[in-house]
Amino acid sequence: MTVQQARPVPNRAVGIASERVDGREKVTGLATYAAEHRDLQLDDPLHAWMVTSTIARGRVLRVDASAALALPGVERVLDHENAPRAASTDDRELAVLQDDRVGFRGQIVALVLAETPEAAREGARLVSVHYDAEPATVTLDAAGEDDFYAPEQVNAGHETDLEQGDVEAGLAGAAVRVEGRYSTPAEHNSPMEPHAATARWDGSVLTMYDSTQAVHAVAATLAPILGLEQSQLRVLAPYVGGGFGSKGLPHAPEVAAAMAAMAVEGRPVKLVVTRQQMFALTGYRPETISHVRIGAEPDGRIVALEHAAIGGTSRIKEYAEQTATAARMMYAGEHRRTTHRVAALDVAVPSWMRAPGEMPGMFALEVALDELAEACGVDPVDLRVRNEPELDPETGNPYNDRRLVECLQRGAERFGWADRPTSPQAIVDGDWWVGTGVASATYPTLWMPGNTARITADEDGRYGVAIGAVDIGTGARTVLAQIAADALDVDVASIDLAIGDTDLPAATVAGGSAGTGSWGTAIVQAAQQFRADHGDTPDPGVQTTGTAESYPDSVGHALHSFGATFAEVRVHRWTGELRVTRLLGVYSVGRVINPTTARSQFLGGLIMGLSGALFEESVRDSRFGHVVTQDLATYHVASHADVRGLEVDWLDEEDHLATPMGSRGVGEIGIVGTAAAIANAAHHATGVRVRDLPLTADLFLDVPPLP
Ligand code: MOS
Repeated sequence: MTVQQARPVPNRAVGIASERVDGREKVTGLATYAAEHRDLQLDDPLHAWMVTSTIARGRVLRVDASAALALPGVERVLDHENAPRAASTDDRELAVLQDDRVGFRGQIVALVLAETPEAAREGARLVSVHYDAEPATVTLDAAGEDDFYAPEQVNAGHETDLEQGDVEAGLAGAAVRVEGRYSTPAEHNSPMEPHAATARWDGSVLTMYDSTQAVHAVAATLAPILGLEQSQLRVLAPYVGGGFGSKGLPHAPEVAAAMAAMAVEGRPVKLVVTRQQMFALTGYRPETISHVRIGAEPDGRIVALEHAAIGGTSRIKEYAEQTATAARMMYAGEHRRTTHRVAALDVAVPSWMRAPGEMPGMFALEVALDELAEACGVDPVDLRVRNEPELDPETGNPYNDRRLVECLQRGAERFGWADRPTSPQAIVDGDWWVGTGVASATYPTLWMPGNTARITADEDGRYGVAIGAVDIGTGARTVLAQIAADALDVDVASIDLAIGDTDLPAATVAGGSAGTGSWGTAIVQAAQQFRADHGDTPDPGVQTTGTAESYPDSVGHALHSFGATFAEVRVHRWTGELRVTRLLGVYSVGRVINPTTARSQFLGGLIMGLSGALFEESVRDSRFGHVVTQDLATYHVASHADVRGLEVDWLDEEDHLATPMGSRGVGEIGIVGTAAAIANAAHHATGVRVRDLPLTADLFLDVPPLP
């Protein structure tokens, strides 16, 4: 049943900084993750270890498993000749062990099943794979101009190109022009919990504990590959140790685990992806290059804007980062062109990483804005205020609640922006140059249809609330209970929330900063329908199940969140070392459902932005095609010592166009613009304009003194 549109709900639990309901389980180690389930059915598993290709392109001629099979404990070695046949191989990323083709270095070419992880790993080492290697193109530099093509659409269903007005004429007639080439490297999600799955096939149902952001999507995607009905897959993810997008879509290891379980019917199979293997098998943010051209009036008002983005994708499966889409809606200006081109490379399949599109795109755009501010002699905060559009430039629709200017102004005040010297190299503290910078942040308000919630009256005034949502560490389990409590107008303590299981009503991905809003809408609608059906004193056992197909108020509005990020950096004059001493993010995200968990999302976003600004870079070997920096020693993720003063703040608001709770998403906006704010601050400190991430120390050696 589709329930009616929801009424706004009273805010009693929503807005309270309640503690995480699962905090105790997590800090005491009682929370069970995908590789840790030891219930009766999953006890005594076989351990799977993936053998991955050492060539970037070509064919597997022969897999010699004899030495592996001779090792005590090794039970089976699956390869492309003896693995179970998939019912569908349309998705080349997920067509595991189905033919002899190798599409990238690190692809699964065999799977060893053994009694212990040690035997599986040693067995994998002993498998000898013979290849017929072909020449491979693995970097954007190596791609020819003809290799770049326009994808049919870019990630999240955005149009590939969009043109309004006459950009060339607008640029030609503009009093001030800035132009630059900006780049962001490939980056890999590095959640604390590596990807893992424990699966068991009993002949009719495949049960899988999976580290995923979307249990129903895993079942829906894997079922046709395995030749099963979706109802024959039960996927559970009670706890997930982070994802950032890398667990948003199923990847090859999940197929491998499921296939292996079906090959050894009755025996569970446990597959843990190693940290190194994650750099080839679980998605990543592809490298991007942005050409940005801006033409403006002398006072900084933008007349024409072009953002032309190029990037790499995998030859076996297209993924096109939506790098230029933020430039479509961010600022005013009559003439505008945004384009995306990709080159297919013999590399691992890119995918989602926190704020795909906005993160790299807003790095380019927001550094370009800083350059425009400099060229016009306008304060960077004022420049952004001057370019505030009245209507969404992309659609012509009014905004739901665009409050970027308030974020900038509140941030400027809190940060102490007014005292900022206008020119670079103005502040020296001992051997350190000190500078400050600003950038805007934005993220679309996505809302996903099809979420179903079930409300059940239990004994003693308790209510069961069931939805197959996943808490990947964000606090969803806590905030959904708050939402349910208000929707039913009871205390949070009266709610028994069940999530993370395909046996529960269907739910969409914990992604796109849309989980809480979309699941929450379903809960609110079902709860209100429940009250309409059963009243305030329902008989124990009565139930209402409702699916949220739309949230109609959003039609006709441009729904986005906004924010402003301020950074202070210190750059060492003799070593080039860059330290981010302060980061402040001020956000407009609608109603904040739980200040504790939302603050963690903003802080985490800022830290991930800092990490991308200074450290993160997946360096691909141009000869062999793999990522060389494939561990946490060489792929440095910001650690405690890298993070200094962090502050977050948000506007007090409710947005009932977005959701009945008045909330919008909070998961991704914190990373957006952060790297630009840091790069702009580094320029303010030193006078060196860096347009390529990350900002490494070598870029600040031999800095010339300004005249
Ligand atoms: Mo997140 S990149 O939307 O899973």
